[in-house]
Amino acid sequence: MKYTTAFVFLWTIICNFSIFGQPISTLKAISPFPIGCAINPDLLTNDQLYKNVVTNEFSSITTENVLKCGTVHPKKDAYDFSKGDLLIEFALANNMRVHGHCLAWHVSVPKWLNEFQGDSAAWEKLLQQHIQTVVSHYKGKITSWDVVNEAFKDDGSYRMDTINDEKKHRYITLWRNHLGTDYIARAFIYAHKADPKVLLFYNEFAQEYSKEKLAAELKMVEDFKKRNIPISGLGIQMHINIDTKEEGIINALKKLAATGLLIHISELDIAVNTKKVDGFVFTDSLKALQSKKFAFVVQQYKKLVPKKQQYGITCWNVGDADSWLITWNKVIDYPLLFDTNYQRKECYEAFAKALK
Ligand code: XIL
Repeated sequence: MKYTTAFVFLWTIICNFSIFGQPISTLKAISPFPIGCAINPDLLTNDQLYKNVVTNEFSSITTENVLKCGTVHPKKDAYDFSKGDLLIEFALANNMRVHGHCLAWHVSVPKWLNEFQGDSAAWEKLLQQHIQTVVSHYKGKITSWDVVNEAFKDDGSYRMDTINDEKKHRYITLWRNHLGTDYIARAFIYAHKADPKVLLFYNEFAQEYSKEKLAAELKMVEDFKKRNIPISGLGIQMHINIDTKEEGIINALKKLAATGLLIHISELDIAVNTKKVDGFVFTDSLKALQSKKFAFVVQQYKKLVPKKQQYGITCWNVGDADSWLITWNKVIDYPLLFDTNYQRKECYEAFAKALK
């Protein structure tokens, strides 16, 4: 008993104080806006360390894959909310905000949807039913949704082509092909009808390097405002790397913030293996560059996005080993704030310092 008490006492000291006697704070304790991560239900269930880090450090979660169409809507007339429910129960039990991701996208298209045959009225019904069923299921529990994800190509045109990429994923923009570009506006309307209080985001990547895409997105927002389409915010994913130009980040944040909408850095990660080489070594100088870039993103977000529009910064995954760059893109990289053992990295300290 004595030993247990001593252990608990020591553990509390270790958890609360660094070796220099300074209290160790957590991201959510010091951040002026919500700090989030995309989470994975399997890791949450099977890895206690992962669960501890998510619980201690973050105040918001994004449902990484579990509410994408391919997972949540596996058959035309069947939905599977089991994994989504698990994440949401966890978040609500721990006082975390939940950001739902995503209602319409060109990836994670289930087989039944890919094969669906019907006229445009039938397609419209599918879009409406999908959105309204998923949003209604989480009404009052999910605070915000990425309604449409990645609708534009880097050249600023609407994504609509069928592409068989080298990974043999069939990326088809079904909604655009069958319903025209205004499916985007209607997706927002359907989501709003299902939960009038939920905040609705348009989420996109590459705004920091593609001026054309950024311009197309801003034009769409302008049009939505004129037509009173219920859009509350914009997600800038920020899958960037240590070489991403600072001017590009500044330009994107400035222009997105000028819309007056909420701005969410929604999928932050900073890759270091920019040439995607095998046998890559994460050297001290690369660690320093990554830390600098993480701090830069936070500083610019605080500076360029007015306080009332700061919806928060969300990292895409938690520890380096679970980054989508590794599990999905299959490259060696170390793009996150925590290492493969969920220990804080050098860039964590830089990120935290910039947040304060
Ligand atoms: C990624 C997930 O992280 C992977 O696990 C999945 O296999 C593929 O999708 N932009 C997005 C996210 O909006 O949904 C993507 O997530 C990463 C890029």
